[in-house]
Amino acid sequence: MTSSGPAARGRFITFEGIDGAGKSSQIAAAVAALRAHGIDVEQSREPGGTPLGERLRELLLHEPMHLETEAMLMFAARREHLAARILPALDAGRWVVCDRFSDATYAYQVGGRGLAHDKFAALEDWVHPGFQPDLTLIFDLPPAVAAARMAGSGATPDRFEREQHDFFERVRAAYLERARGAPQRIRVIDAGRAPELIRADIERLLAERFFV
Ligand code: TYD
Repeated sequence: MTSSGPAARGRFITFEGIDGAGKSSQIAAAVAALRAHGIDVEQSREPGGTPLGERLRELLLHEPMHLETEAMLMFAARREHLAARILPALDAGRWVVCDRFSDATYAYQVGGRGLAHDKFAALEDWVHPGFQPDLTLIFDLPPAVAAARMAGSGATPDRFEREQHDFFERVRAAYLERARGAPQRIRVIDAGRAPELIRADIERLLAERFFV
């Protein structure tokens, strides 16, 4: 039997944005588009993605806690996710599409809640030194529009979704600042448009970045 050598490393793609920005259906469409290109893709989410991470997610979304506890639990879930799932998949040549990653901690805990940037940077450097997604898509839209979409969904809001307008303004501003700091990696998607237009944009971005 001949060896075909190690598989090319997979790509790591993340989706970000304030609550109610409409990521979920677009993530599913992006995964389907990648699969249509013959790519072996795993879909995951943060906080979560592993049995332990999903248990931490329950606490993070529903249990009151100190701001720094929240930030550390986000990174604890992420550490597990990287070790148990993301890095093994990428090493085996599979791609991983993830609903949120560390940009969300920057946006929500630093921007939204006011965690010191140095503390975020220390945690990020501890948990994934030198590692970032290959591509990050930030779904951007005004918090008032996102709030109206969420109100229409009828779902019971979690600890983050119950936050007020100015919290989401800060989260949005932090995402956009993060995008300005990493223009090669992060693309901002205007999420206020019709779903078909957003979907076409994403498919074009994926093609430009990975298939051309
Ligand atoms: P999400 O999966 O988008 O929620 P939903 O299932 O309701 O669509 O994200 C869960 C929440 O966690 C979201 O409000 C943002 C928050 N979050 C942080 O505050 N920091 C983080 O690092 C991550 C990954 C998520």
